Amino acid sequence: MNPHSLVSIADLTKEQILHILDQARYFEDHPGLKVLDGKVVATLFFEPSTRTRLSFETAANRLGARVIGFSDANTTSSSKGETLKDTIIMVSNYVDVIVMRHYLEGAARYATEVTEIPVINAGDGSNQHPSQTILDLYSILKTQGKLDNLTITMVGDLKYGRTVHSLIMALKYFNPTFNFVACDELKMPVEYKEFCVMNGIKYVEHKDFTQEVINSSDIIYMTRVQKERFTDIVEYERVKDLYSLHNSMLVNSRDNLRILHPLPRVNEISYDVDSNPKAYYFQQAKNGLYARQAIICNALGIDILAPDVQSKYVSHE
Ligand code: CP
Repeated sequence: MNPHSLVSIADLTKEQILHILDQARYFEDHPGLKVLDGKVVATLFFEPSTRTRLSFETAANRLGARVIGFSDANTTSSSKGETLKDTIIMVSNYVDVIVMRHYLEGAARYATEVTEIPVINAGDGSNQHPSQTILDLYSILKTQGKLDNLTITMVGDLKYGRTVHSLIMALKYFNPTFNFVACDELKMPVEYKEFCVMNGIKYVEHKDFTQEVINSSDIIYMTRVQKERFTDIVEYERVKDLYSLHNSMLVNSRDNLRILHPLPRVNEISYDVDSNPKAYYFQQAKNGLYARQAIICNALGIDILAPDVQSKYVSHE
């Protein structure tokens, strides 16, 4: 496995996470740095995506790299029966780093075992979405001025939501208090609750999205009920609209509250929230560009804050 691969947020130490956030800040402040001239990035998306793929591709383009890849595996030789292993080996012949989203949990880890080039997990089933976590942390840091000691309320599909799974793991370093708001069918899986217990993280489970929970939160992290993960469509129909945030519910919320959502949304955030200054989900998605610039550079062993990199690129900015 290439040591620069990013498969799970658990692959990163606290110091590494904070350093990537510093790099993201630097890229936000310095948009024109062509540190990846001559590099080629592959984006292999076996599952649909808007933000993740386009922000990774924009990040690579802005850094001077070229991008190849696909957004629909049906247009590739996967549809003729080519295995994931063969696809990864082939693509590794052409590029310097692979960004991959796959519907199978563990697919990104498997990819790292069949190639020497770095692999960035852009989401594997219900498992992990580490680049989303970096942009979520960056968004929390920008809006709260800190990552420590925050009350974070996660709402909706906590069973299949890889973004909340990754975020819990990253926040273990920052003494969070979690509210998990979900119905029985979409409760936070036991392994993540055990993770909280093992790491001394406080959490409370709720079935109701109450005013008390909203008013005590620093961050509300809404999630979509993911139809594509259900095998029983009747169960999906029963739970899909259980939790919905409306502007009127925010009247007595904390001044510092920000509403996050990895997007896309369906019905879980009413459009009347969009104009509330506490709505931050579109800026959050924009932060993904800077976070992913930092993540691609890290995968390629380029530290934009290192003195030699600074003297080579920043002086020519
Ligand atoms: N947040 C996120 O992963 O969005 P996409 O599915 O559009 O990439």
